[in-house]
Formats: sequence, structure tokens, C-alpha cells
Amino acid sequence: MAKYEIVGGNRLEGNVVISGAKNAVVAILPATLLVQGVCRIENVPNISDVRILLDIIRSLKAKVRWTDDSTVEIDTTEVEYCEPDPKLVTQMRASYYMMGALLGRYGQAHVALPGGCNFAARPIDQHVKGFLALGADVTETDDFVDIKAGPDGLHGARISLDVVSVGATVNIMLAAALMEGQTIIENAAKEPHIVDLANFLNTMGARISGAGTDTIKIKGVEKLHGATYAVIPDQIEAGTYMAAVVAAGGDVLVQNVIPKHMECITTRLREMGARITEYDDSIRVVRDGPMRRITVKTMPYPGFPTDMQAQICVCMAIANGISRLTESVYETRFFGYCTELQHMGANIVINGKTATVTGTDQLVGNTVTAKDLRAGAALIIAGLAAEGTTTVKNIHYVERGYERLIEKFTQLGASIRRIEE
Ligand code: EPU
Repeated sequence: MAKYEIVGGNRLEGNVVISGAKNAVVAILPATLLVQGVCRIENVPNISDVRILLDIIRSLKAKVRWTDDSTVEIDTTEVEYCEPDPKLVTQMRASYYMMGALLGRYGQAHVALPGGCNFAARPIDQHVKGFLALGADVTETDDFVDIKAGPDGLHGARISLDVVSVGATVNIMLAAALMEGQTIIENAAKEPHIVDLANFLNTMGARISGAGTDTIKIKGVEKLHGATYAVIPDQIEAGTYMAAVVAAGGDVLVQNVIPKHMECITTRLREMGARITEYDDSIRVVRDGPMRRITVKTMPYPGFPTDMQAQICVCMAIANGISRLTESVYETRFFGYCTELQHMGANIVINGKTATVTGTDQLVGNTVTAKDLRAGAALIIAGLAAEGTTTVKNIHYVERGYERLIEKFTQLGASIRRIEE
């Protein structure tokens, strides 16, 4: 077990370089299983979710190696169909992309139910709806999902998702890329990582159009080939550093970002009083005056991301006035961090989907526990802004999704260290 100890109160100054996007790379790595050949994936963050996923891919007899700090080469020439190691699969959420990838490549998949951050009930009925429409038979038990071609075989289909789901959209794209016929996903997710996966698959020879809109068309092809591809920068990691500057005060150039992806976040931080300047692939965030109250509702992209809910809540907790934060994707997500923030002096009242946050002059350091990845990020931000020392426990959640976090914050002048217990 390890924890972070943060001494709050330092302004953040300097540059931070954003890593590759976690939620893109966890879809792109399983997609390499659709080819028999070599893929080189660049801008890969070395985070624990990626390391587990690479172990899952290794467990299928792929040859995986890091050729430098951020490039992974995956050789799938000798991969044969087998069940991904359930011990690994249950350690993370995105391991459910093995279902789509194996169904797409081998016409069958027997995969344990995923683990990962459990801040809400996270059903997979829309993934299953997609697999059934593509002609699969799906059997679910308490621990496993078994998917195989049904009596009429696998084929393209028109699938209208009942809820906008990133995971279901990815799984259907993975399953359908090599399938005979055309698949149309309606009410598809539009997140940047969906577009990134489509771009990667198209680089490998797939025929996917419409990614980034709510209708994605996949014309099945017979074969895909190996490719070299660079993952997009992480929107949420960038947003987390931006929120940290807003909460702690400072002047930071956030580098290696796609400013367009950040608009839903920059708009809100500007409303709070931050001065934000966008460049081609970087964003400067300055906050030196008082912060204003805001109203935020999380929505699928291009709305304000649920994965930034906790981080913006910290900014609200020290802004002037009463802010309102409404969660429309995962209702129970507040419970992962609001009690901990209250232990640091935040004034938050939760009523169903909405948190009412009354700004306080100063948060105060305390010992708090991360209950999921973004909750942990929020507690770190709170610690940076607070008076005194904050200890954040359970940081294995944070290390799932933030590469070299201590190094990056230290470089910005924060006082933060990792302590092995
Ligand atoms: N949903 C269903 N049925 C399904 C799938 C989803 O009802 O079959 C519901 C969910 O309960 C939720 C909504 O649809 O209310 C959206 O869920 P989605 O499927 O989009 O979430 P996900 O694919 O499981 C990804 C990210 C999450 C992020 C959400 C929403 C990955 C690996 N995870 O999860 O990221 O919160 O989309 O944007 O891409 C994180 O990075 O911290 C994280 C949790």
C-alpha cells in the first residue's frame, strides 16, 4: 500500500506535458488483436491499467515490448484463441474490450466480467445488445460472459443504443470491423477516444466513417494489417492539471493537448475566473484572483465530462458563492469523494443528482481515502489547495490513470511525495 503526502499552499508554475489518453489506449491495444502482424503504438501512458492490459494481451501469446518510454510494439503473429486470464481481466474495467476484439477476430469470446472503478452500477447490457444484433449468442453468468456465433453466423447490423455508451460503442466497433456486411451504430458515443479508435482501425485498413457523430458506419473488411499509430493526448489528465492550477492558483502551460477536446472544460474554468489562452497544442492557465461560483452538468462529449466532476467540485468548494454540480452519467459518483472533501472543510450537500457546493475561504489538510481514480485526483487537487498537510490513501486507484503524477506536480512546484506503507 502506498499513499501521497501533500503540503498545500504552493502556487503551481511552469510546464506540464500531458500523456497519451488512457481511455483511447485501452481501446486501441485490444484492437491490435484484430490483425495478425505487428502494430507500433506511440504516446502510450505507462499507467497500471495499460500494464495490466498488456499482460492480458501477453496471456494470449502476443509478443509485447516497450521500445521506448511511450511506445509499445505488439506482435500478434502467434496469437491463438484462448480465454484471457480472469485474474487480470477482473483488475480493470476496459478489459471488457477483449469481448469485442476476440469476437471480431475469432468469432467467439469467453471473458470474465471486468473490475475497475466501481463508483456506480456499470451494466453491460448495451454491449450485449450489440453482440446479439451482430448475430452472436450471449450467455452471462455471475462471473463470465460467453459469446459465440449464433445459428445464422455473425453479420453486420443496425444497432441503436438505448443509452450513449463509450464501452458499447467501442466493443461494437471492435467486433464489427472484420465482420461481413455493414454495421451502423446509432446513438453512438462521440468522445475523442472513439474517434481515435476509428482512426487507428482505419489506419489498419478498416472502413469506418462517422466517428465523432452519433451515427457510426462500419463496412466490414476481410483483413486488417499492422500499423504505427500515435494515441491522442489525455483530455482528462489535461483537465485535471488545469483544475489543479485553478484550485491552487498559478500559471501553467499545459502541453501536448488538443485544445478543441478541452473546450467543455476551458469554458467552465474561464467562467470561474481563470485566464486561459489556447495555442496549437498547448493551453496556458492562469489563476491569481478570486474564483466565482458556477453551474455545471456532466454530459457525454461534447458536454462537460463526468470524469472531471470531482476535480471541478474542488474548485467550486473554494470559489465565492454557491455552485451547483449535476451528474447525469453516473448518479452515485459523488459518494466517491464528497465525504472526504467535507473532512477537509468543504461544504457540499448532495440531493439526488445534484451537489450544492458553498464555497469556503480555505480547505484544511486531513487524511483522506481515494475510492476511485478521479475521486483520488480530486483529493490531490484539494490537498494542493489546502492549508497544511493532506495524506491521500488508496492511491493505487490514481496510478491506474495518471502517468508520473508526482514528477509532474513536483515540477510545477507542488510539495507532494509518495510514501510506501
Ligand atoms: N450504460 C448502460 N449499459 C451499458 C453501458 C453503459 O446502462 O451497457 C450506462 C452507464 O451505466 C452510464 C452510461 O451508460 O450511466 C455511460 O457509460 P459508458 O458505457 O459510456 O461508460 P464506460 O464505457 O464504462 C467510459 C470510461 C469512463 C467514463 C465513462 C463515461 C473507459 C475505459 N472508461 O466508461 O472513464 O467515466 O466512459 O464517459 O473508457 C475514468 O476514466 O475514470 C472512467 C471511469
